[in-house]
Amino acid sequence: MSANVQNPLDPFRVREDFPILAREVHPGVPLVYLDSAATSQKPARVLDAMNAYYTLQNANIHRGVHTLAEEATASYESARERVAHFIGAASAKEIIYTRNTTESINLVAQSWGRANLKAGDLVILTEMEHHSNLVPWQMLAAQLNFRLAFIPVTSDGLLDLTVYQDLLAQGPKLVSFMHMSNVLGTINPAREMIAAAHAVGAVTLLDGAQSVPHFPVNVQDLDADFLAFSSHKMCGPTGIGILYGKEKLLEAMPPFLGGGDMIKRVRLTGFTANDLPHKFEAGTPAIAEAIGLGAAVDYLQAVGMDAVAAYEHALTEYALERLEEIPGVWVFGPSAEKKGGVAAFMLDDIHPHDIAAILDKHGVAVRAGHHCAMPLHEKFDLPATARASFYIYNTRDEVDKLVHAIYDVKKVFG
Ligand code: ALA
Repeated sequence: MSANVQNPLDPFRVREDFPILAREVHPGVPLVYLDSAATSQKPARVLDAMNAYYTLQNANIHRGVHTLAEEATASYESARERVAHFIGAASAKEIIYTRNTTESINLVAQSWGRANLKAGDLVILTEMEHHSNLVPWQMLAAQLNFRLAFIPVTSDGLLDLTVYQDLLAQGPKLVSFMHMSNVLGTINPAREMIAAAHAVGAVTLLDGAQSVPHFPVNVQDLDADFLAFSSHKMCGPTGIGILYGKEKLLEAMPPFLGGGDMIKRVRLTGFTANDLPHKFEAGTPAIAEAIGLGAAVDYLQAVGMDAVAAYEHALTEYALERLEEIPGVWVFGPSAEKKGGVAAFMLDDIHPHDIAAILDKHGVAVRAGHHCAMPLHEKFDLPATARASFYIYNTRDEVDKLVHAIYDVKKVFG
């Protein structure tokens, strides 16, 4: 494919880049993919880049002087440079390849957390976190005996920033929160929250799993100390994610996993850790996936992240309007101006799994369940929700198909 340079975004042109969108899910029933918050689809450019690596360059990186090894290393490192540029990092040394957002957060917990947190310290999270940004801290808190406190979510799906101010007054060591909620869709005021945390000397970790794919995120503008995100939600392959960290913090942190590549020198009695970013990348990494992520970044940049954000905002506004017209539908989270392209909803007292199963008969793919955010669902006394999530290849016509299929669910359940 050629990059679809466009402003504003034309979803019909974008769709041509995604081979999977041409398939039917049942005979005569085309795919309406509304589950991009779980994982996005991949453009041909990404698939081609990975295929080209395996077809023409396949070799291990940083380990050989032969041509293939040099080419593979150059492709892998070039992808890192492009990721750094994409999020406005000062240097590619600040970009660590991990497996996903979850591993990035675990890296911070196990490396920075173990070195910097002790009994009695306070770590601030929020009630809207998905399990990736809860469980690593719960595991570590159980071992080190520090305290976890949670910024509450208000009934309209926003963070209660008054309580945040009160918690900051207790002198936290770390504030870790999601930029955009995968359930409520809420876009949190990250820059202000980070500045407030820095004012009391706390380090900040921003979970960008749902933000980096959907709107411009610049780590220097936000002044985030750490940013975690996944490739597979931003048109790239599974199996690779990113931890961005400020160089000074990463330099001071001990390695996370031990093994090849993260060392400079090994003796039987000890080792010297490698320089950044390799210090945190033990063993043969996901080379093809890094190259695929590089192609995904090129793709999103060609479309333009401002155009992505504007298009998704307009589509979400339309979707919320249409969903809220349906008697018995209740959409979770704030109004369109405060949220990204996510609509988690309930329909009468029909179980979300039943909703999703009937929608699937119409080719409409949505996720049903707790979306890896059980505490948030418990807070609102919901066992589960059905969730439609939107990306650059979704159209108003697909929103209409979702609405039509929801009316069918109502018919089936009488
Ligand atoms: N956290 C991902 C989701 O929201 C997996 O679906």
